[in-house]
Amino acid sequence: MTEFIDDRRYARLIGMVGEVETPTKNLKSSTEEELKILEEDFKSLQDQTQDLINERAHMESEIRSLKKRANRLDEEVRSLKSPPLIVGHLEDILDQERGIVRSSNGTVFSVALNQRLSPEVLKPGVRVALNQDTLAVIEVLHDAWDPMVSGAEMVDKPTINYDSVAGLDEQKQSVREAIELPLNSPELFKKVGVEPPKGILLVGPPGCGKTLLAKAVANHTEATFIRMVGSELAQKYIGEGGRMVRELFSLAKEKAPSIIFLDEIDAIGAKRLDGSTSGDREVQRTLMQLLAELDGFDVLENVKIIAATNRPDILDEALLRPGRFDRVIEIPIPDDVGRKAIFQLHIGSMNTKKISLKPIVDKTTGFSGAEIKATCVEAGMIAIRQSRGHITQEDFIESIKRINLKKIQGGLKDTPESMYN
Ligand SMILES: Nc1ncnc2c1ncn2[C@@H]1O[C@H](COP(=O)(O)OP(=O)(O)O)[C@@H](O)[C@H]1O
Ligand SMILES: [Mg+2]
Repeated sequence: MTEFIDDRRYARLIGMVGEVETPTKNLKSSTEEELKILEEDFKSLQDQTQDLINERAHMESEIRSLKKRANRLDEEVRSLKSPPLIVGHLEDILDQERGIVRSSNGTVFSVALNQRLSPEVLKPGVRVALNQDTLAVIEVLHDAWDPMVSGAEMVDKPTINYDSVAGLDEQKQSVREAIELPLNSPELFKKVGVEPPKGILLVGPPGCGKTLLAKAVANHTEATFIRMVGSELAQKYIGEGGRMVRELFSLAKEKAPSIIFLDEIDAIGAKRLDGSTSGDREVQRTLMQLLAELDGFDVLENVKIIAATNRPDILDEALLRPGRFDRVIEIPIPDDVGRKAIFQLHIGSMNTKKISLKPIVDKTTGFSGAEIKATCVEAGMIAIRQSRGHITQEDFIESIKRINLKKIQGGLKDTPESMYN
């Protein structure tokens, strides 16, 4: 065909315009050119295909993730649409399939139990969620803690250890025997055949180290430490205080091994008197609940109680009965040896020059640990006021005078410990 083809026609055919001079040569070069163009086209199409393939893979993965998200949202919508469950308490278990529940409005029903719930968690007394129509037990709920009670659990351990409590060696020993030993090696008590004490009561004048000692215990054991001040348990509404005590003990049992520290227990533990006001009666109910809890729990439940008070004289005798606070540990005003130890402890971290402890100790008869600490702080303040970098004997003598004066005025009797910490 090429033989008969007319140059001009060919030129038109391949879309080339312009004069064609040498037909054969021209024909050859234009074919080559066309080939080149086609090759280029082919290559660019190939690239485009690759791009499209990539894009498709990308789109497919996007679809997959969107589908997953849609599923999740669907599920969320479904759970938001699901009817509410009624909260109640399981009262009794009849057999494997049925139980008796009390719904939140007080009515009692015999209902079906969810077979997938393990019998271990389905115990009388637990809080459960019930189906709205059939009241069947759907799930077991966590017990509700009063935020004040759950907030009492100490998460950060105090930095105080037994070395920060000066003197009081015998008391430290007793506390450790009564609290730490039963928690750490209960087998010892089993072997000897005695029941470990349930709790101890620390009594003594203010500022002599009761709270300090309890903090040292908290620092030293692995047990959960729950601290509650008596006045927090004295509540305004009827039944509130009792409920808090109950929750305090069930929290302690759940977190066992644990130690409950009831500071300033006289706020609720004061003697029950006749003819008291309704506020007093509420406090007495709280005390009764505390006594019931103390009696109720088993010694082996790994819950120990430390209580502290400045006023053992006004405590109800029922609290002091054996089986409740089995041990009363007295933390007295420090004697000469004790004062020396406390001074040594606090002076240890101070920059002092030529201090002779004997006259200082002799001059501070009757000082509590808190007053001794205040004396040291005051001596430091005197040195600072005189722009001295160290504390001298005279500073201490002056500071003892000042603290004595405050003592006479009654200013330091009930100083909160936070002032010194
Ligand atoms: N034996 C002691 N050793 C060292 N510091 C003590 C001692 N007793 C009291 N203190 C000081 O007094 C402060 C108050 O003591 P604290 O234990 O709170 O008294 P309370 O017996 O009233 O609970 C403590 O923070 C500590 O600085
Ligand atoms: Mg205290």
